[in-house]
Amino acid sequence: MVGYAFMGAAHSQAWRTVNRVFDLPARATMVAVCGRDGAKVAEAASRLGWAEAVTDWRELLARDDIDVIDICTPGDSHAEIAIAALEAGKHVLCEKPLANTVDEARAMVAAAVKARALGVRSACGFNYRRVPAVSLMRNLVADGRLGAIRHVRAVYLQDWITDPNFPLVWRLQKDKAGSGALGDIGAHIIDLTQFVTGQQITGVTGITETFIKERPLPEASSGLSARAGATTGEVTVDDAAVFVARLSGGGLATYEATRFATGRKNGLKVEINGELGSLVFDLERLNELEYYDATRPTAEQGFSRILVTEGEHPYVSAWWPPGHIIGYEHSFTHEMRDFIEAVATGTDPTPSFEDALQVQLVLDAVEKSDASWVSVLA
Ligand SMILES: NC(=O)c1ccc[n+]([C@@H]2O[C@H](COP(=O)([O-])OP(=O)(O)OC[C@H]3O[C@@H](n4cnc5c(N)ncnc54)[C@H](O)[C@@H]3O)[C@@H](O)[C@H]2O)c1
Repeated sequence: MVGYAFMGAAHSQAWRTVNRVFDLPARATMVAVCGRDGAKVAEAASRLGWAEAVTDWRELLARDDIDVIDICTPGDSHAEIAIAALEAGKHVLCEKPLANTVDEARAMVAAAVKARALGVRSACGFNYRRVPAVSLMRNLVADGRLGAIRHVRAVYLQDWITDPNFPLVWRLQKDKAGSGALGDIGAHIIDLTQFVTGQQITGVTGITETFIKERPLPEASSGLSARAGATTGEVTVDDAAVFVARLSGGGLATYEATRFATGRKNGLKVEINGELGSLVFDLERLNELEYYDATRPTAEQGFSRILVTEGEHPYVSAWWPPGHIIGYEHSFTHEMRDFIEAVATGTDPTPSFEDALQVQLVLDAVEKSDASWVSVLA
């Protein structure tokens, strides 16, 4: 695994757990973790459960006892690490968004296609697909329970940078992150809605905004705080993005991704309206799915709450008895479960790099669509 902070911790937990919960044809062994600071990565290795720590990811590619490279670094290093790893014959799991630009994503797809021909697999880590309620949502749509999809309404709302003194971390720098709320959390709802509907976004128009254009530079020691009177730097990504889209099945979709939704910490919500019913998922209640079945007698119609904890629900049978709820981290364990199973059985895991490139194309189209903004003249 490369990178050992937020996603590194989430992925480590999943790698530690996956074979203890799921019966799989192969076993994950946590061989080595890579970071750039020797002392810090050594501490992370012992805390997170990796046998060894290294300071250059190229060392991992040269080793015969490593089959999988798990990329948990910021977007500016995804393409370089993933392409080199695939060329070295390693299966690759890469965090989202796949890359910082469409060109990088295309190069990653080219490497993935070549590697696939040799049995080397790749996938991008859109973990919310693996929440049981989201998988159930997809199954219900695929079974035709909603009929034709008319509307998709998706929001991903956070508020961690509303304070103008919050420092200029890597997520606020285009060269490191590619884009802001759009690529970070907007990418999730783009992937999730395309996954659930089984349709692609075919066109968009949207707007992005950077509310706070200058921020104090972070203190080197913590990275997450700034000293009073610190020098400032320019914020080069969006703080918020709002866009509308057409779906390949003829429906309309709206998306909102922002880091300025005061009070919303990680508010991911998706509603789908079809001709035969509606489905609603809210990450803050991730064990539940709301379902409106318009085929029921009128007098009995209404949104019902499905508690997605039955053994027959996706992924659930490996966990606890009905009603014993699961959480955020389980989505990563499910991601590793699906990845291991695909690699071990010689099939392609999803979402593929091609699927993730499609998300990248949507992100790019949203940024470009700003040009079509029309001012309202008094
Ligand atoms: N799936 C999700 O829900 C989710 C959530 C958060 C972040 N992410 C994605 O995960 C990735 C990492 O984000 P994060 O939140 O973990 O960031 P983070 O800042 O918490 O961690 C990044 C890690 O990468 C390391 N790193 C950076 N460049 C490196 C290099 N060249 N070689 C080795 N290590 C390097 C850093 O030292 C750090 O350990 C990003 O692509 C992000 O978009 C996904």
